Amino acid sequence: MRILAIETSCDDTAVAIIEAKEIKQIINFEILGNDVSSQTALHTQYGGVFPMMAKREHGKNIFNVFKNVLEEAEKVISPKELPPSALLPEEKPSALEPAIKEKLKEILERESDLSNIFIKNISKIKKPGIDAIAVTTGPGLEPALWVGINFAKALSEYWNLPVIPVNHMEGHLLSIFPKEDTKFTIDKKENIFPILSLLVSGGHTELILVEKWQKYKKIGQTRDDAAGEAFDKVARMLGLPYPGGPEISKLAEKIRKKGEKIKNKRFSKLFKFLGPRMREDEEPDRKNSNNLLPLIKFPRPMIHSKDYDFSFSGLKTAVLYYLRDNKNANKAKVAKEFEDAVIETLVTKTIKAIKEYQIKTLIVAGGVSANIYLQKQINNKIKEENLNTKVHFPTKALTGDNAIMIAIAGYFQYQNKKYTKNYDELVAKGNLSL
Ligand code: KG4
Ligand code: ZN
Repeated sequence: MRILAIETSCDDTAVAIIEAKEIKQIINFEILGNDVSSQTALHTQYGGVFPMMAKREHGKNIFNVFKNVLEEAEKVISPKELPPSALLPEEKPSALEPAIKEKLKEILERESDLSNIFIKNISKIKKPGIDAIAVTTGPGLEPALWVGINFAKALSEYWNLPVIPVNHMEGHLLSIFPKEDTKFTIDKKENIFPILSLLVSGGHTELILVEKWQKYKKIGQTRDDAAGEAFDKVARMLGLPYPGGPEISKLAEKIRKKGEKIKNKRFSKLFKFLGPRMREDEEPDRKNSNNLLPLIKFPRPMIHSKDYDFSFSGLKTAVLYYLRDNKNANKAKVAKEFEDAVIETLVTKTIKAIKEYQIKTLIVAGGVSANIYLQKQINNKIKEENLNTKVHFPTKALTGDNAIMIAIAGYFQYQNKKYTKNYDELVAKGNLSL
């Protein structure tokens, strides 16, 4: 079967088409088309994502992203097969019948930009060889989610296809399967359970226990800010652009490398002299060695709590106070100490859960899973503790939001008959949970 998937939960407008062939419980997937249009450049100017602004951008861009994906898919399919789409020449639009035009207008009533583009262009596209449309219905920013949902409904109406509602977090969890190639497999017989998944993004930080596919149990989550959100907020305090995660990570890595260099050069005498005030990665201002700032050590909230919950808002406040009290603070050092605190907390809780639940497979996914220090620390700890757990991260391109992961989750949903043609069932749920 072929699935067209749509993702608009935050600030990426994404569409993909995948093909899935299941033989004896082995699912062979092929990505036929994939495109993501990022709104980052726009949101950077405002230091964060405003839901109504994100909605407007999705509305303006989604049809184009969709068209790109259909064109790409057309190239992949062999000529013998039914093409997934056929774009009719621009000059020859076949007009929409008044009844269907009215119905589409009604479905897209709240999406004025998209409604205009859709009604003008959809009749220029022949029905593609797809079987269902998967769309993210939550969690995420509701105005943004609605664009994808209404677009899915309009396509469903026009092409008479079922719609599969998909949980964005289930998408992230499944995003580790595609590698660099367009083809990948999921072997349902393979005994990789129990799986633990650390999902870390701009809106979420949670630990999910997976006993079998589609059977999820949340064992812990953040009580306030998500890890990515904390990265973004601290970056803002440091005057770094949105999204803050990659910026903080870059600065922190620089300091760690500097620390390594110093260590290698063995400034041992200097370290001995300066005693406990200095650590290996703390280089004194050599022009003025009296100018040492106090050693930074931020808190690790809830690191030793008995549950698997997280909390990052106290850490964020600690950074705020440190910056308030130390006007000439070294930004890179603050970034490093902050990152150390977040990652240590995430890793400690994850390792604890791996031991308690005797986890065979760890999946780390979501925007923050792109963090190289997190990847390093998870791998190191698993080794150090002699755990037999196999660890998976998504490829870099799939750490952020994309529609390939929504298509994979959509396939599982479809197999469980979770699809509909009843539009009342397709509703944006900002707080949808796994
Ligand atoms: O999954 P995602 O693309 O969108 C949501 O569903 O939220 O995650 C975006 C989040 C942002 O907060 C961003 O700062 C963070 O992921 N992020 C990172 C890194 N790359 C992206 N955080 C830490 N280190 C990174 N390298
Ligand atoms: Zn996400």
